Amino acid sequence: MRTPLVAANWKMHGTQAFARQLLADLEKGFASSSCSAQVLICPPFPYLSLVGDVAGETVALGAQNLSEQKNGAFTGEVSAEMLLDCGASYVLVGHSERRSLYGESDELVAKKFAVAKSSGLIPVLCIGESLEEREAGKTLEVVAGQLNAIASQGLESPWQDTVIAYEPVWAIGTGKTATPEQAQEVHRFIREQLGEAGVSTQILYGGSVKADNAVELFAQPDIDGALVGGASLKAEEFVSICCAAD
Ligand code: 13P
Repeated sequence: MRTPLVAANWKMHGTQAFARQLLADLEKGFASSSCSAQVLICPPFPYLSLVGDVAGETVALGAQNLSEQKNGAFTGEVSAEMLLDCGASYVLVGHSERRSLYGESDELVAKKFAVAKSSGLIPVLCIGESLEEREAGKTLEVVAGQLNAIASQGLESPWQDTVIAYEPVWAIGTGKTATPEQAQEVHRFIREQLGEAGVSTQILYGGSVKADNAVELFAQPDIDGALVGGASLKAEEFVSICCAAD
């Protein structure tokens, strides 16, 4: 059995005051509910320690990115070691915004993935197709290519202690969610690509997940939770999504 996991990607939102308030509201929301999903919060870098200190025991802490370098003269970069030092145990790798806005290639994403694994961070590998790719019938080909870029690194057991997030680019921040059937088809395909390890790998869906569409997405057999952007900034909405994953 795979434990459901709901991850919050705060992206570049908030202030310390906002983060503290959101965490307090989340704590209240979780206290008055009885949901047992695993919860992961990925705040911006400067707030990692704050979230780790406040939410430490009840939620896991993740970063939104990491450097492919170990350490050294790389101005503006943040290493895996620093993330671990701040209490993070997860890191998003290859989010579509990193790929499309910051030019992260499959090759760079694979390097970051390898650094995360070797340092002991659990990578949340984000993959997914653009609208043009879906309309051209290339969804599965694109997703397979993104997985192969990782698999071809020659890592030992790349899919063990790894989370995959399927985030169709056209569904991110657009209010257009993949239908449960569209998402399930790709999740099943991803699981098949992972081989034996796929049986226990958590595969999350991301892209305009809200309280009112979470239940039917989570009802699909290969959807193990969600990676949530916008709705993770609203405590009530996020708690409802977490509880829907139970
Ligand atoms: P939204 O939930 O805002 O569509 O963002 C999804 C996402 O990119 C999570 O990583």
